[in-house]
Amino acid sequence: DHSVIYDNHGRPITYLRLSVTDRCNLRCKYCMPAKGINFLPREEILSYEELERIINILTGLGISKIRITGGEPFVRKDLIDFISTISKNKKLKKIAITTNGTLLAPYISRLEEIGITSVNLSLDTLDPDRFKSITRRDQFDQVIETFYLLKKSSIPFKINTVVMEDENIEDIIPLAELTQQYDLSVRFIEEMPFNGKGGNGSKLTWTYDKILNHLKDEYPNLKTISSGPHSTSTNYKVPNYRGKLGIIAAYSRTFCGTCNRIRIDSQGTLKTCLYDSGVLNIKDILRDGASDEEISNLFKHTFKQRPKDGFEAEKRRKEKLQESMSVIGG
Ligand code: GTP
Ligand code: 5AD
Ligand code: SF4
Repeated sequence: DHSVIYDNHGRPITYLRLSVTDRCNLRCKYCMPAKGINFLPREEILSYEELERIINILTGLGISKIRITGGEPFVRKDLIDFISTISKNKKLKKIAITTNGTLLAPYISRLEEIGITSVNLSLDTLDPDRFKSITRRDQFDQVIETFYLLKKSSIPFKINTVVMEDENIEDIIPLAELTQQYDLSVRFIEEMPFNGKGGNGSKLTWTYDKILNHLKDEYPNLKTISSGPHSTSTNYKVPNYRGKLGIIAAYSRTFCGTCNRIRIDSQGTLKTCLYDSGVLNIKDILRDGASDEEISNLFKHTFKQRPKDGFEAEKRRKEKLQESMSVIGG
């Protein structure tokens, strides 16, 4: 498409990750501290009207995929109506959601009608007690109900599993086994230091390679299969299983070379990399009365200053990596 913008490293910018709230009804250890979280006051969050305006500007610049994230996006009131509204934008070819699944059940048929492209469901364990330990909440049954409802629906979905020493290593194979029976993708993710406290202080144990070797011990015939051109995951398949497995090197950052993503976090800050600390305060610019053209030009300008990868983004930062993923949206 001629209207797509390429960044200063020749990568097309076509995918917006939009965090619509920092609030969540779970307290996953890899994302938030247990207590003392200061959720943003309402006026610090962009209104749906403001978000729609930004989306219109960005689709004018070549964004064709949007992913709604949080916090937990469905904690925000009337989210389904917002999704329905943006689905009318013809330039948005893909609308996806990343969700913890606890609040999704009542909306699945509406999402089907809207024609949502896909849902990524966070599920770190198949064991109710471990679920409670990881998320610090007792909502395993709601997520499993959502899993079955999604399975019955026509919505394609993936499972996201953050791999954590001492928490869910014994879940890796049972989760992978879901792909025997079900045509879905289960993706194992390296843990990143975005739990609001700067990570666990030590170095990552479950790296991409370690996860892969663990899978290969169980499945010696594991096959590598192709992944999309801008995929975060490297994909695999157990021969004769219906679904796929994926590993996301979120901390090793091996897929930055094809990164087509920008983010707007729940405070209305533009990030051109998950690991940068925010390059443009869109909320203030909007509220200061900037025109669409002015905002569009600012976007274009920042797209030409992207770090080449997550390591460069990290080097440019003044602060440590210690945000909560619930503000950034992953
Ligand atoms: P698809 O569009 O289905 O491929 O999903 P996705 O991988 O783009 O998004 P999702 O919200 O499911 O995120 C899965 C994991 O990948 C999360 O841990 C994200 O934080 C991580 N992730 C997504 N985009 C990036 C990125 O640009 N850089 C890094 N390092 N991690 C990312
Ligand atoms: N490291 C890796 N992935 C994370 N997610 C949340 N926090 C982290 C973290 N610290 C995942 C969630 C969700 C996606 C948006 O990001 O499980 O699936
Ligand atoms: Fe909530 Fe997602 Fe963070 Fe878990 S990872 S606390 S589900 S926002």
